[in-house]
Amino acid sequence: MNKDVLSEAGSLNQAVTALQMHFGMPASQIMEIAEAFRRAMVEGLYEKNGPLKMLPSYLGIPTGNETGTYLAVDFGGTNVRVLLVELSDGRISILNPQPVTSLLRDPGGKYDYTTEETSAEELFDFIADLVAKLVTPDESYILGHTFSYPSWQKDVNTASLICWTKEVKTSGVVGKDINLLLTQALARKGLGGVKPRVILNDTVGTLLVAAYEDGDADVGSICGTGHNTCYFELKPGQGTKPMIINMESGSFNLKLPITKYDEQLDQTSDKPGDHLLEKMVSGQYIGEIMRLILCDLAGKGLIFKGAEPSGFPFSTKVVSAEHLSVLISADLWAMDNMLINEWKISRPADDEIVALRSIASMLVVRAARLVASTYLGVLRHIDSKLERKHTIAIDGSLYEKMPGFSENIKAAIDEVLKDRSKLVTLRLTKDGSGIGAAIAAATLGF
Ligand code: GLC
Repeated sequence: MNKDVLSEAGSLNQAVTALQMHFGMPASQIMEIAEAFRRAMVEGLYEKNGPLKMLPSYLGIPTGNETGTYLAVDFGGTNVRVLLVELSDGRISILNPQPVTSLLRDPGGKYDYTTEETSAEELFDFIADLVAKLVTPDESYILGHTFSYPSWQKDVNTASLICWTKEVKTSGVVGKDINLLLTQALARKGLGGVKPRVILNDTVGTLLVAAYEDGDADVGSICGTGHNTCYFELKPGQGTKPMIINMESGSFNLKLPITKYDEQLDQTSDKPGDHLLEKMVSGQYIGEIMRLILCDLAGKGLIFKGAEPSGFPFSTKVVSAEHLSVLISADLWAMDNMLINEWKISRPADDEIVALRSIASMLVVRAARLVASTYLGVLRHIDSKLERKHTIAIDGSLYEKMPGFSENIKAAIDEVLKDRSKLVTLRLTKDGSGIGAAIAAATLGF
């Protein structure tokens, strides 16, 4: 068990300072993690072991001249979306006027397709129902499927789920051919004219969308509910053509500065020991790390002194990434609503608010610096002397919306690469998981 960082704190202020020291990551540590990450990439690619799965996508970089109209299914961590995408003369248009999307879990508790009680058929019927909102039984389309979970691909259209991540547990999907499950569900709805032809990870979709317009794009990443990165590999192994590799980097676990809170979170997660990096940096988990810190502070009498043992912060899963965002952005109205109505803290003291904001920022900065370390690892692998330009295409709610997150990734890269960091561009690439599926289908010439 990691050391008790708060053992010597006599006040809330001292406790926050101790936490900040403990969670801080100097540039030397970033470089150490980057090098461990680079080695893990090589190990995963050629020796097929180590923490990075290095999964083949069988997709290359698009030319920007791909054309056609395709259906895209985006099955992410939080919702499922269906889009009709047209590619023509380098232009991308979404043809459906209204978004066709549905949450995987109903916040009101009416349904939840992510539980063990849900079968593969029920989950894929739910997806096929969404497709039916956009397509009639007499229409024919090629479908690209972005499936954002670790999957072993045999070819561009055959992927079997290795394991669920992001706390999804639906039964009967692990080990199955995902696009076959989708094809069967579409047939059950009378949509046999819709043909799934390609399956890809959301990181791969993100890279494809950026590369459609930007010749320097060679890395794609998601910083949202989950975290993962892919990149374009010139030498994926003997007899294999250059292709994009989905690293499943959320499962990286070497040299990470794991605290006792990370350990606690891991132990109570669905898969202890798995996806350790993801549990330190992604929207699914960052709120829970904050809650565990607050529990520790409250248990030691350093914060929320009058809180009931059954009230906040002792009940689980009440702190979300959105809460961290509200605290950091100092949106006073939203903060009052959150503290008083959601967390039931009637009168937070000023020093408590300062502490909450500092802890939220500290976690976001650590997440950003950890993610930056892995990007630096990828750059070391693909361009060891850093001689060319690279665009890292990034999508996801944390990257787009969490105050300070993208800025701190950039700052960490600047700190390490100094003036050579101008060769590296971080590019917010929205909707990679939707549009990317259409581009993937188009690169295959359907
Ligand atoms: C999880 C999934 C991975 C996905 C990432 C972002 O880490 O395992 O496949 O890319 O979340 O959605």
